[in-house]
Amino acid sequence: MILSSCFWEVEIIACVVCLLLLIPIYHRFTSRHVVLDPEGRAVLITGCDSGFGNMLAHRLLKMGFTVFATCLYPEGEGAQSLINGYPSDRVKVVRLDVSSDKEMDNVKQYVLNNLPEKGLWGVVNNAGISTWGLSEWMSIDQYKKLVDVNLLGTIRTTLAFTPLVRKSQGRMVFLSSISAIMSLGNGIYSLTKAGIEKFCDSLRLEMKRFGVKVSIIQPGNYARATNIQPQRTAEEVWNSIPAHAKDVYDMGFVKKMTDFINREVLKGSDKGYEIIDAIVDALTSDKPKIRYLEASLQEKIAVFLYFYLPTSFVDAILAKSIK
Ligand SMILES: NC(=O)c1ccc[n+]([C@@H]2O[C@H](COP(=O)([O-])OP(=O)(O)OC[C@H]3O[C@@H](n4cnc5c(N)ncnc54)[C@H](OP(=O)(O)O)[C@@H]3O)[C@@H](O)[C@H]2O)c1
Repeated sequence: MILSSCFWEVEIIACVVCLLLLIPIYHRFTSRHVVLDPEGRAVLITGCDSGFGNMLAHRLLKMGFTVFATCLYPEGEGAQSLINGYPSDRVKVVRLDVSSDKEMDNVKQYVLNNLPEKGLWGVVNNAGISTWGLSEWMSIDQYKKLVDVNLLGTIRTTLAFTPLVRKSQGRMVFLSSISAIMSLGNGIYSLTKAGIEKFCDSLRLEMKRFGVKVSIIQPGNYARATNIQPQRTAEEVWNSIPAHAKDVYDMGFVKKMTDFINREVLKGSDKGYEIIDAIVDALTSDKPKIRYLEASLQEKIAVFLYFYLPTSFVDAILAKSIK
């Protein structure tokens, strides 16, 4: 009896491993046909000051696209590297705080006045901010801020530019995160990314009849490639926690948690180009994927197990990290 149950366990594990090995082979034979001519086509990207947004703007400009590179600080280093690097008829740097309705209206008008001959081909919803901490450590103002930038900012941008993308039967790309699937000590960030995923699930179906394709990028931990999550000290975290939470969690716990997150941040990949490759594929491939999970093998296995193991079992393992 025991022997036969062991046999089944080995068989199941072998099947899971075989399936995981088949995934890259499947992708090699089914996608990545770049067919689009970028000449005369524009892509609008939010959050081009730094990180993925800035890298993507450089990549698309090199490919020949016209890029509306929206930045929080057009006079900053990231924006200037774009302005100084490419012809002014192809790089359009414009100020946009995605949480501002007024700025969004201004940018929409600017885009309408400066469209190249083939119109607005793509919108990449990239702008985002992050923080971490247990749910009770966050103030309602922090929740509002993250929702306003990450979730409502994404929706605001989409509503503003959908008519133009529809006209060109183009692409909409959204930066989600592996945190939309699994959350540990960063519920405030995860909820905004999970919201984006649900928004896209609806939008993707609605856009089908117009020939517009919607893709979601789910990066794993790429903290060393961008500025998304700077290291914090335990003192900074402690000082940001509301008084009522300090009655429950002491400094020793806060330090343990801070060390844990800082270690995770340092483990992040510095290969930002992998995310840019995925976004470019979503913008140019004749068969863009619905979801691009760009993560380490370990993270991919974790996602796989997260979907297939009972939640109570996964909870028991994850909760140990924040005990
Ligand atoms: N790096 C990762 O490991 C990772 C993992 C999963 C998902 N992501 C997602 O990838 C996207 C890009 O992040 P990143 O990693 O490249 O980090 P990043 O270097 O911090 O880039 C984020 C960009 O968004 C801009 N931004 C912040 N608030 C804004 C606002 N209100 N309006 C407009 N722009 C604003 C930032 O401007 P400033 O630089 O001026 O603040 C910056 O240019 C984000 O949506 C993030 O959630 C990143």
